Amino acid sequence: MAKEKKYFICSECGFESTNWMGRCTSCGAWNTLQEKIGKKIKNTKIKREAATPMPITRINVAERQRLKTGNSELDRVLGGGIVAGSLILLGGAPGIGKSTLILQVASLFSTKYGKSLYLSGEESAGQLKLRAARLNCLSDNLYILAETDFTAFNDHLENNSDYELIVVDSIQTLYIPELDSAPGNISQIKEITGQLVRIAKTTGIPIILIGHVTKEGDLAGPRALEHLVDTVIQFEGDQHHIYRMLRARKNRFGPTDEVGVFEMIDSGIKEVSNPSSFFLEERPEKVSGSIVVPIQEGSRTILVEVQALVTDAAYSSPQRLTTGINRRRVSILLAVLEKQLGVNLRDHDVNLNITGGIQAAEPGLDLGIITAVLSSYRDKALDSSLAVVGEVGLAGEIRAVSRIDKRIKEIKKLGFTKAIIPTGNLKNIEFDPDFRVDGVDTIKEFVEVIFSL
Ligand SMILES: Nc1ncnc2c1ncn2[C@@H]1O[C@H](COP(=O)(O)OP(=O)(O)O)[C@@H](O)[C@H]1O
Ligand SMILES: [Mg+2]
Repeated sequence: MAKEKKYFICSECGFESTNWMGRCTSCGAWNTLQEKIGKKIKNTKIKREAATPMPITRINVAERQRLKTGNSELDRVLGGGIVAGSLILLGGAPGIGKSTLILQVASLFSTKYGKSLYLSGEESAGQLKLRAARLNCLSDNLYILAETDFTAFNDHLENNSDYELIVVDSIQTLYIPELDSAPGNISQIKEITGQLVRIAKTTGIPIILIGHVTKEGDLAGPRALEHLVDTVIQFEGDQHHIYRMLRARKNRFGPTDEVGVFEMIDSGIKEVSNPSSFFLEERPEKVSGSIVVPIQEGSRTILVEVQALVTDAAYSSPQRLTTGINRRRVSILLAVLEKQLGVNLRDHDVNLNITGGIQAAEPGLDLGIITAVLSSYRDKALDSSLAVVGEVGLAGEIRAVSRIDKRIKEIKKLGFTKAIIPTGNLKNIEFDPDFRVDGVDTIKEFVEVIFSL
């Protein structure tokens, strides 16, 4: 007989406690512990072999089996493909394209490796078929199960565990009837994710779990979920732009700094293998406030355009609006400008963005921000064949950045002929008579160089 137990669960972080507390000891939130009476939940009956301890020297360290999905950007972010038996959590805002991307991936995967299952709690089987037809990715090996009852799905798996990949879309729509709470509730999410981990580990079937994120960017409240899974990847982008970025936030089997770049078009989500030319496609010529910066995202260099618009303040307190750039970083850089160059922007509004709706937080961007702001403030367009990069310190010093060789290479590849970089980086680059490089040590020196080019 199922055993009833009384416990308390934090609605913020999912922490469970046997007694009530005014403040959650796990996340520190007040008045979030709610009383629950739950039954013991049926566990997956899929057979598992008992683990036995082994001397560390005798452990077989054969490379884990990695399955390339065939989607080069996703494979890159995962560290070279999906690891067998791993649970991957894909987060992203509703409507960003998670289901579209994963339907394409699952379909491609099924044609390469065989029978794959897409468990959908959001769309009906018919809707998924129409979507797959529209995306031109119908596959005989892709099985659809439209179900929100997790126990029913579990029962199905007990007799059918011959899948090569399972997709669960989405964690928020599934529920275990025996649990006394609604779908999307923290206790449901935690229990289902825990069971999915067990299924992946015992069967070796990799599972991709889709989850919606909240406005704050958390995976719908439960940070607890991220600890349970092997890999957390996040699909980001601006709904109004066609670019999408895929980032690894946690990865037990690979690096976490790789990004994947995609474009969302009518026929689906396409990999962008050369993001630099993509982000610079619509760059205006000969206008003030625009500069190109080579930023480093993981092992890859991407050229982005930083744009600034500096105008007389509309209100008594000046506005600082940014898209894709950290606002606090901008405030600091404006303070450096004021102190070092006497450029006082207290009665000016400053708008800054990175075109394409991408997010970037990289020290090398500092010099680009300073450049775009000064160019707009003085209403002076800069040489369109110029790119800049450098970190700006609080004393106005310009500090060296990582991987300057790769950055210069990317700049040249895209046809730029001039660059201003930190003096400290000059020793790392090769002389090229067709490419002009100026090294600068301070903001003051930088301003003299940039407006003389
Ligand atoms: N039939 C369609 N034709 C064109 N675009 C569509 C169609 N259906 C959905 N979309 C677009 O695809 C986007 C991504 O949808 P989806 O993959 O379901 O997002 P998510 O799963 O992240 O919520 C939606 O914002 C919508 O604009
Ligand atoms: Mg969806």
